[in-house]
Amino acid sequence: MFPFFKKKKTNMDIRKIPRHIAIIMDGNGRWAAKRSLPKKAGHKAGAQTLEKISRVAMDMGIEHLTVYAFSTENWKRSEEEIKGIMDLLRYYLKTHMERAKKDQVRIHIIGDIHRLDEDIQEQIRILEELTKDKQGMCLHIALNYGGRDEIIRGAREFGRRVAQGELLPEQLDEGMFGSFLDTAGVPDPELMIRTSGEERISNFLLWQLAYSEFSFTDKLWPDFTEEDFKKAIFEYQFRERRFGGRKA
Ligand code: IPE
Ligand code: IPE
Ligand code: MG
Repeated sequence: MFPFFKKKKTNMDIRKIPRHIAIIMDGNGRWAAKRSLPKKAGHKAGAQTLEKISRVAMDMGIEHLTVYAFSTENWKRSEEEIKGIMDLLRYYLKTHMERAKKDQVRIHIIGDIHRLDEDIQEQIRILEELTKDKQGMCLHIALNYGGRDEIIRGAREFGRRVAQGELLPEQLDEGMFGSFLDTAGVPDPELMIRTSGEERISNFLLWQLAYSEFSFTDKLWPDFTEEDFKKAIFEYQFRERRFGGRKA
């Protein structure tokens, strides 16, 4: 459809690069099955795609990239698959710690990390601390993340503040509620990409995606390329975002 994407150059409008892109990195299991490989091999290939796409996103000047790595529902999977994912996560976090000095990426985890193993929680705390002043791009990794769970945790915290007499129920508005979510202070994603042909949000960023543009591709996440990423952004640039209003 856009033949010039075959070449490296695109006619992207650099003034309309989204500040925040969210990605549901789906299709690792099918990628592995197609190759008769264990699921872990698919998750490993997926982690490599994440490395590549986050570098591309940073080079393009994207400020926030939020990726769905493990959902609150993914605990339903086999113990073996979960262990495989957690081991890859340990490796990924460790590699990032080693690179943290020269890398410009700030790492921020969203989701309820308390259900993760203690050593992973510790790695997360260290990596977030090590990268907190990085100016390049913020990579938000969703781990044990569910949109409904995030909203409930936020609502509980607001309730606690009311009970302590610090806030009044009437003070709550959309802006304040947003500040009780894991993405506090982060602008909502302009664009959400999901790979693997599924066209649903699977409990991802329910609050934050209220007015995001969606881009679905049949590509499985490990096969997703820089060109696919740039194509999604290019197509986004032609979307007319009305936010319930009318065309000017
Ligand atoms: C996404 O890939 C990664 C996680 C959910 C951890 P899947 O593992 O869901 O891949 P498919 O959907 O089975 O192909
Ligand atoms: C969403 O993918 C979660 C992640 C990509 C981490 P799933 O594969 O878990 O979602 P469903 O089950 O197809 O909706
Ligand atoms: Mg899936």
